[in-house]
Amino acid sequence: MSHFHYQDGVLHVEALPLTQLAEQFGTPLYVYSKAALLANFDAYAQPCAGRDALVCYAMKANSNLAILDLLARRGAGFDIVSGGELQRVLAAGGDPGKVIFSGVGKTEAEMEQALLAGILCFNVESIPELHRLNGVAARLGKRAPVSLRVNPNVDAKTHPYIATGLKANKFGVAFDDALATYRTAARLSHLDVVGIDCHIGSQLLDDAPLLEALDKLIELIDTLDAEGIHLHHLDIGGGIGIQYGEAGEADPVPVADYVQRLYARIDAWRAARHQGKPIKLIFEPGRSIVGNTGVLLMKVEFLKPGSEKNFCIVDAAMNDMKRPTLYQAWMEIKPVVPRAGVATVYDVVGPVCESGDWLARERALALDQGDLLAMMTAGAYGMTMASNYNTRTRAAEVLVDGDQAHLIRRRETVAELIALESRLP
Ligand code: LLP
Repeated sequence: MSHFHYQDGVLHVEALPLTQLAEQFGTPLYVYSKAALLANFDAYAQPCAGRDALVCYAMKANSNLAILDLLARRGAGFDIVSGGELQRVLAAGGDPGKVIFSGVGKTEAEMEQALLAGILCFNVESIPELHRLNGVAARLGKRAPVSLRVNPNVDAKTHPYIATGLKANKFGVAFDDALATYRTAARLSHLDVVGIDCHIGSQLLDDAPLLEALDKLIELIDTLDAEGIHLHHLDIGGGIGIQYGEAGEADPVPVADYVQRLYARIDAWRAARHQGKPIKLIFEPGRSIVGNTGVLLMKVEFLKPGSEKNFCIVDAAMNDMKRPTLYQAWMEIKPVVPRAGVATVYDVVGPVCESGDWLARERALALDQGDLLAMMTAGAYGMTMASNYNTRTRAAEVLVDGDQAHLIRRRETVAELIALESRLP
């Protein structure tokens, strides 16, 4: 059963009606299901049971402390991309020994912070980054565990803004330069070369490009082995894509099948060429852990008919959910209490002063002013990409556990927004 379902004509999350949550906490409101979150995490963790594997949740997808806390307690590690995210992991009780640090632009201060915290690995993306990390580690009298993010030049066939594995992307070390870069890393005095990683893109519904990337990483591990550079882990990057519900959308491959196919290749390779040596497998899924656990709940402020288009103006906006305008992403909109009656085709838009402020286009909905709408599958890259544009306070966040609702982020106040600013003397 989906954790979001209609019961007595009202959309519920687990055992609670969204109408009740809107009344209690106001709108716009992000609402998450705890059961869905844990089920999504288990989809990766369970097929890995009994193996040396680590699921490092890519917390950029949703970094609320309550979500991190739940995942940490379930055994998750974390994929971070900033010192700020590391602070969140620590504040949520996460284990720094299960943290991997990705990103092309790590500062010295962030490297120092991560070295002192004792993270599992730095996913390094360039030669200058190797030198910087070596310098910081030397200054602290520490050794930095390093993996190289290799760019396998595989076409992930996803939106150009979220494809990362091609030569034209800023990410990673080119496959052809990887060996030389590993040699450099191995020569640096304060680095321990421990792994290899890649991330070819996000929202991949098919696992074929990921398996192709795996094959290329395996090839490189063999080459490195022959050179005396022995890696302990292989990090395959982000997770499988998810279903947003658009008509004609392909089904994502089930996570369990994907994990099984990865292991089939790894096991065959270990038996044949890697002399059975163990290798830890790391995953960095974000979207598939949180995406379908959350909805963005909003209220219809006005219905504005027009000669070319009808607008449904809601109290959420592009500052709350950037995916539609940024990626032309299709997000499903459901009425919380569906009405009988003739549907009208609307563009669902927010109050922000930009034509790009739209959440959904050309949706047939039977609506009245004051109705509640839920944007489905909004748990990933929703709140974390929200802004205060137009001095809008960001949405509150609620996590539902059965019939209990927990406010996990209260609504901001305008006083808080302007508190950091000063007028001239
Ligand atoms: N690892 C690395 C190094 C990444 O850059 C990302 C996502 C992930 C893992 C997690 O990938 P996932 O499992 O979520 O596909 N804001 C965009 C998505 C940007 C993804 C950035 N990197 C969106 O809303 O579609």
